[in-house]
Amino acid sequence: MMDQDKTILCIGAGYVGGPTMAMIAAKCPEYKVTVADINADRIARWNSDRLPIYEPGLEQLVAQSRGRNLFFTTDVEKGIRESKIIFVSVNTPTKTFGSGAGKAADLQFWEKSARLIMECATEDKIVVEKSTLPVRAAEAIHRILQSNTKGLNFSVLSNPEFLAEGTAVADLEHPDRVLIGSMTTPDGHDSMERLVEIYAHWVPREKILTTNVWSSEMSKLVSNAMLAQRISSINSISALCEKTEADIQEVSHAIGMDSRIGGKFLRAGVGFGGSCFKKDILNLVYLCECYNLPEVAAYWEQVVRMNEYQERRFAERIVKNMFNTVSNKRIALFGFAFKADTGDTRESPAIHISNLLIGEHASLAIYDPKAMENARADLAGTEGKIEYFEDPYEAVRGAHAIALITDWKEFTAYDYGKIFTLMEKPAFIFDGRNILDHKRLYSIGFNVFPLGKPALTHF
Ligand code: NAD
Ligand code: UGA
Repeated sequence: MMDQDKTILCIGAGYVGGPTMAMIAAKCPEYKVTVADINADRIARWNSDRLPIYEPGLEQLVAQSRGRNLFFTTDVEKGIRESKIIFVSVNTPTKTFGSGAGKAADLQFWEKSARLIMECATEDKIVVEKSTLPVRAAEAIHRILQSNTKGLNFSVLSNPEFLAEGTAVADLEHPDRVLIGSMTTPDGHDSMERLVEIYAHWVPREKILTTNVWSSEMSKLVSNAMLAQRISSINSISALCEKTEADIQEVSHAIGMDSRIGGKFLRAGVGFGGSCFKKDILNLVYLCECYNLPEVAAYWEQVVRMNEYQERRFAERIVKNMFNTVSNKRIALFGFAFKADTGDTRESPAIHISNLLIGEHASLAIYDPKAMENARADLAGTEGKIEYFEDPYEAVRGAHAIALITDWKEFTAYDYGKIFTLMEKPAFIFDGRNILDHKRLYSIGFNVFPLGKPALTHF
């Protein structure tokens, strides 16, 4: 018989819910872990050999526990009744309507989940905020839950997730820290201890931080804002490098060696994508505006504006250097995912860059190792000539230029001599991630436009 106390439900089987629960199930075999979602297709794929998301190591991790103590279901209500600890990992996108549209987090999925928990529960529960939420969201959630008329007690914890896509399994297994925020009540403290006990199965105790619930909610937003800010900072300098013949990679390396600055997250590129950086910064901006802190709001909003500038700048540089027109020219996009090792294209710079190039009447030939399905969905209905290829050598046939958007390692291993022969001349490469061997490409005959460093051209 399963110990009723050792039952976990996660509402939301997405990029966070699925991998996080698979890790908990693998590390805590005495817990029964259920992941529930209203999206039946997604659940069917979690129960199949074709998981709904691509992450290195995820298939093996899921296979380890699925059917043993890890279950995927669409029956959210049953899951609520049968579980003591309920993680809620539903999406919290930017609101598109009403007050706060374009900035505030849309909490409707979260609130629905909280109300369902309240309706279905027949005993006290611990409810864990896994989704990224605005600061003080726990207060509203707690109020909703406590409005139950069954005399039940709900404890609300904040346990934000810091995994990055593409490295989710490794990040979950060896996190820099696990953060748990709780209410400063005896009940809050007891609930927090129970969650600490779960993570302590594999995370060293000194890496499990416990704080008050507002600090925890705040730290998640600020963590993403600071990471994104570093990227926008280095990207802004990449624009200046292109004007001055300084080399952005040399600059990143030189400044990153200062231990106070540190070397990570200083890779200039086509701009940050992903479902969270932009939405979480805008969420922070909205909070600042609501608390009447316009200077603070403007400061953080600029991180997003700089990112939009960088995406636009990349597309404009292509047009400008291809003799001011890409009309009817084929441009091969290498990569569509927002970063390497994922098929996720949410907020990918590729979407915005594609639209800008299509606006210039370019024809696009898109290739990505894992994101083709999402790329097709993202550009469905876009008017213009867009072709999708399973083979990169077919994508470049007759192309005037290659625009490298995603930092997939396989792009560095291609036969660029062969690629050159397949392309129209003069052949251009715009390396939006600075991962290719630029000197070699130049010696093959390409006109090479790295990002934030001098171009290597034959004219
Ligand atoms: P996602 O869109 O991949 O998954 C969310 C899932 O919740 C979807 O499958 C959806 O069907 C389901 N859902 C929505 N409403 C539901 C309901 N009422 N009942 C049951 N299921 C419901 O989102 P995600 O990328 O996993 O992100 C989830 C949260 O985690 C967000 O708040 C995000 O900001 C945060 N986060 C994401 C990442 C990341 O790398 N993607 C990392 C850290 C934090
Ligand atoms: C990011 C954070 O790194 C996670 O800690 C956080 O949990 C997550 O957001 C979230 O809340 O969703 P993720 O977006 O998956 O993770 O991936 P990152 O590695 O952070 O990359 C984000 C974007 O920044 C990518 O487009 C990437 O290519 C870009 N990037 C990253 C750069 O352009 N330069 C860099 O130096 C680093």
